[in-house]
Amino acid sequence: MLKVLVIGNGGREHTLCWAIAQSSQVEKVFCAPGNAGIDDVATPVDLAAGDIDALLGFAQREKIDLTVVGPEAPLVAGIVDRFRDAKLRIYGPSQAAARLEGSKAFAKEFMRRHHIPTGPFAIFDDFDEARRFIAESEGQLVVKADGIAAGKGVIVCNDPADAEEAARQMMREQVFGAAGSRIVIERKLVGEEVSLMGFCDGERVVPMIPARDYKPIYDGDRGPNTGGMGSYAPARLPEEFDVNDICESVLQTAVEGMAAEGTPYVGILYAGLMLTDAGPRVLEFNCRFGDPETQAVLPLLGTDIIDIIGASLAGQLDLEPVKWRDLYCTCVILASSGYPGSPEKGKPISGPLKTDSGEVFRFHAGTAKSNGQTVTSGGRVMGVCARATTHESAVANAYTEIERITFDGMQYRTDIGVRKGPVSRPRQRRQTPDRRSKKTRYR
Ligand code: GLY
Repeated sequence: MLKVLVIGNGGREHTLCWAIAQSSQVEKVFCAPGNAGIDDVATPVDLAAGDIDALLGFAQREKIDLTVVGPEAPLVAGIVDRFRDAKLRIYGPSQAAARLEGSKAFAKEFMRRHHIPTGPFAIFDDFDEARRFIAESEGQLVVKADGIAAGKGVIVCNDPADAEEAARQMMREQVFGAAGSRIVIERKLVGEEVSLMGFCDGERVVPMIPARDYKPIYDGDRGPNTGGMGSYAPARLPEEFDVNDICESVLQTAVEGMAAEGTPYVGILYAGLMLTDAGPRVLEFNCRFGDPETQAVLPLLGTDIIDIIGASLAGQLDLEPVKWRDLYCTCVILASSGYPGSPEKGKPISGPLKTDSGEVFRFHAGTAKSNGQTVTSGGRVMGVCARATTHESAVANAYTEIERITFDGMQYRTDIGVRKGPVSRPRQRRQTPDRRSKKTRYR
């Protein structure tokens, strides 16, 4: 029986702890640092997700069998290399492979080298050159800080003045520190957005079901961008798009490209995609599970996640048939007043707060305990999710559950899951016939 450590404190990590705790192979799940809702599926550990030395020491002392990393920052900082050097098993890409998220310039040049469909772009280290380029450009631009900036480093600009200001803020005023001293400028793409994540073993990718997330704060995709106000899965894609084709041209091509460049990619690869009239285009790669996509996707996983992780780490994903339940899941984020600017904190939360009851899940993010009471401690407070036999009932049930939960200043979008189009699921991957009998288990 395994002891598993999950690193992180958000809704994504709460969902990962819940999914891992379902495994019959798991004895105990720890989460560092966790949140106020996680303790019915994991034991919180008071260590920051960025404190690699302390996490390594904990994993050694507690004889952790497997560590799963939620957020990008420790991956980009090299936590996987450190754990591997210490002969500890950890699921995620190496520091070199995590550059697909850690450097937007690296990712765009990598996509160009490997013919992965993405929008045209230009990279700048010099503000005056960026300014000249912006002045000569037409249409709406997107200005991106090269490095990671806690999800805030991408600015969609309405006009050249906005774009120049975004470039100035990043390069001259260093609002994102060193992450913005290099920038990528792209033309804004138009179409449907979808997130496609895959389990990767260094050679192969097994796609998850596609998900849709909602970044703007208000209904109708209005207002400033957030870390995500909700999600649903399977995403409804326009019928000309096929999730398996997108997996091949984007995720599989990326994994093969990383292997060819000597930096094999093991872990979760996330592609944020725009489905344009000219075909799918990669907006960004992330080197970890998406948040809040994970909250809608993992409740639909029909295979033990520990088996999939074990097969990924063993380089044997082709042996692990990954099944998805023929169900639907919707996640609505409850956010604090003031979010995404300066969220109010410390507001007592009333209503049901435990992780799951029946087909309803409450994956906490910005929650804390104060005098025995669960209170808000951040912008995104929790994801309320419902799983059902139809998309419409998953949406309706999530909103019904929300009526039972209140805190002062609570805000949420009322249009999560309101989309049209056919549902898109990956086809079952065929197993390699001569290896089919060797079922991969972790350890
Ligand atoms: N939902 C976007 C992300 O996880 O980066």
